[in-house]
Amino acid sequence: MSTVTTVERLGRHVGQSVTLKGWLYNISSKGKLHFVQLRDGTGIVQCVVFKNDVPPELFESLGKLGQESSLEVTGDVKAEPRAPGGYELSVKAGKVYQSVEGYPITPKEHGPDFLLDRRHLWLRSKRPWATMRIRDAVITAVRRFYDERGFVCIDAPVFTPNACEGTSTLFEVGYFEQKAYLTQSGQLYAEAAAMALGKVYTFGPTFRAEKSKTRRHLTEFWMLEPEMAYATLDDVLELAEDMLCAIVQHVLATRKTELQVLERDLSKLEAIQKPFPRLTYDEAAKILAEHPESTFKYGDDFGAPDETILSTRYDRPVMVTRYPEAVKAFYMKRDPANPGKVLCVDVLAPEGIGEIIGGSQREDDLEVLLSRIREHQLPEEFFQWYLDLRRYGSVPHGGFGMGLERTVAWIAGLEHVREASPFPRMMYRITP
Ligand code: 4AD
Ligand code: MG
Repeated sequence: MSTVTTVERLGRHVGQSVTLKGWLYNISSKGKLHFVQLRDGTGIVQCVVFKNDVPPELFESLGKLGQESSLEVTGDVKAEPRAPGGYELSVKAGKVYQSVEGYPITPKEHGPDFLLDRRHLWLRSKRPWATMRIRDAVITAVRRFYDERGFVCIDAPVFTPNACEGTSTLFEVGYFEQKAYLTQSGQLYAEAAAMALGKVYTFGPTFRAEKSKTRRHLTEFWMLEPEMAYATLDDVLELAEDMLCAIVQHVLATRKTELQVLERDLSKLEAIQKPFPRLTYDEAAKILAEHPESTFKYGDDFGAPDETILSTRYDRPVMVTRYPEAVKAFYMKRDPANPGKVLCVDVLAPEGIGEIIGGSQREDDLEVLLSRIREHQLPEEFFQWYLDLRRYGSVPHGGFGMGLERTVAWIAGLEHVREASPFPRMMYRITP
């Protein structure tokens, strides 16, 4: 009997006989030898099949297998420094589960639409494989980071009666006799929970009816939102900085192979250390005003090209604070030291993916918050519960939202956020 194991764990079984269960990634044959590239979800290993070592029917059937045929193989594990991964299997037995012909995704180049239409299969290829494992490591790092710091994970609802981030990107859904919206952000609920539990975070799907087809926009994405009672903008900045460093460290420590599959320049990630550069909106505006390619107008929000100009100046994320209140959400606290500005931050990742984090200190004064809800013409009745948080034990508090797919796209060096989602949802794509 041989142990059933995985490609990832082969190093623990050198010199032993093991069984691997997986799929055929590639095969080449030379006389009495088959070289099978077997993938099992945890990695790919070369399996050498010598005709005289296995039953004749097995040798013959292996020679006819197409890409993605499912099979198990049993053999001896050898250290092989020249093999990718460092190990090789000399096969002694095996079993074919399904022999496949005509798998649509071949090792040649395919266009993005061809691949996205077949995302359910494309996930098996090397790049998506590496990306999903990096995404997983980012999630693990996030959960560990907050757990170690005593944050409690709470889950915000997906059906909501009101907007959080402006009314232009709401997805409306029928909710019995009423209208409801898919949540844009769990923040308002996180604020309520922070008053109950001190430090909390929500981590779940969020939705934006973004009519933009850029490489940064999805209609459904995952957002991580920490929220802290008794916190100021400075506390929010520090938390964001510590968290991003912890995420990058964890990915570097556990996903080097995957980063190499994606040909990621590791030195760019190793440079992600505290402190991150900080700019106010006014300072950023000045940089843009002096930049020959910028079309930025003072008072506006930064567009994607502006963010690219700003972020590529640094080798680590830049934290831009104190934007004009007119371009930001209703709940942000006004900066007492800067009339017309709010106590907010956008964190822009280096290398062009743009804003990965948006956060702020929250307006904690009942009257000011109420007047802002009115200015934004938001339905007051739905915000009564939120206003209660300012009626009963209001305190300075704040937090941020980090877009998971943008963060993964930055860390993995992806061109488009859609690659960071297992099944991306965009304006023109809701399948598979
Ligand atoms: O800046 P946003 O809109 O902030 C909020 O929603 C706050 N309520 C968060 C908070 O303070 N708790 O979104 C936060 C992040 C962005 O920085 C970006 O990374 C991501 O969510 N994001 C998107 N990612 C992909 N596609 C989209 N359409 C996104 N919109 C926002
Ligand atoms: Mg934002």
